[in-house]
Amino acid sequence: MRVFVTGGTGLIGNRVIRRLRERGDEVKLLTRRAGAVRDKFAGCTLVEGDPMVAGPWMDALGDCDAVVNLAGENIFGRRWSEDFKRLLLESRVKSTENVAAALARQPRTEAGATKVLVNASAVGYYGPHGDEELDESSPPGNDYLAQVCVAWEKSALVAQAAGVRVALVRIGVVLDKEGGALSALLTPFKVGAGGPAGSGRQWMPWIHHADLVGLILLGLDRAEAQGPINGTAPNPVTNKEFGKALGRALHRPAFLPTPGFVLRLGLGEVAGVILTGQRVLPRQALKVGYLFQYPTIDGAFADIFK
Ligand SMILES: NC(=O)c1ccc[n+]([C@@H]2O[C@H](COP(=O)([O-])OP(=O)(O)OC[C@H]3O[C@@H](n4cnc5c(N)ncnc54)[C@H](OP(=O)(O)O)[C@@H]3O)[C@@H](O)[C@H]2O)c1
Repeated sequence: MRVFVTGGTGLIGNRVIRRLRERGDEVKLLTRRAGAVRDKFAGCTLVEGDPMVAGPWMDALGDCDAVVNLAGENIFGRRWSEDFKRLLLESRVKSTENVAAALARQPRTEAGATKVLVNASAVGYYGPHGDEELDESSPPGNDYLAQVCVAWEKSALVAQAAGVRVALVRIGVVLDKEGGALSALLTPFKVGAGGPAGSGRQWMPWIHHADLVGLILLGLDRAEAQGPINGTAPNPVTNKEFGKALGRALHRPAFLPTPGFVLRLGLGEVAGVILTGQRVLPRQALKVGYLFQYPTIDGAFADIFK
């Protein structure tokens, strides 16, 4: 399979590309900084371009069988200002509009097969929730991040209207020592200052990086993978349980709570992502028969810190 990947230089993309290459797929990687990443992605065809801006890179997508679209400004990259919030939205929506438009030009492969778009979305789609279980049929929230996810998914579905199969992976909190939420949490826990954030009662829809890659590959490979697929483990935990499990894995205490107002003062609006959550279940993945490698938080941490 020839796969075009956007945002492939990031945390998730790196792992996806490694797995695609291991199983013998060809990868075309779109990046805004080809010079800087050329050595790291030596086995890939690099295409230089900004997915937010329509351009010649869209022609390079033409001979690919599938696209994995992960591009988007990192939500923890900066304190949220109105300008940054616009960039968070547009770096996802404009990039996806361009990817969908490029696919719509040629929705079938040379052999006549249906092309596939596996598009990133996020559990933020559902907005903050309490203890109720949510699955792919649950309605969207109405806060800022939910609105971003709704617009992001809508722009991907333009490709579906043109005959492309579209899988929307609503990604949870990806556990990976290499970066993201877990690497940010490690320092306080390692020095014994770890613990719940805010009340600790909010749910964390986590996923081990290997299972997220597994679900993205499922999106590429399986005809039934169409529409939203929650990219979360089958056993979400509360923030407090998460902290305890991390403390156990690191053999460190996890009693020191960080009050919500401290997080809000330090991080600004993005603190809401940590202080709220949702109990998301991967019903679609289970229905299609996906077997999670790391269904429990203790198992996931045992692997990550082995
Ligand atoms: N990690 C998580 O826990 C998590 C959770 C939920 C959803 N997601 C979503 O999954 C996707 C991938 O996540 P990740 O953690 O791998 O992200 P990441 O490490 O921040 O990487 C994202 C990639 O997107 C490209 N990018 C960044 N800013 C951009 C901009 N302004 N315009 C165009 N492209 C830009 C970059 O590629 P180049 O610099 O090479 O162009 C970057 O390597 C994101 O869309 C993210 O929102 C992630």
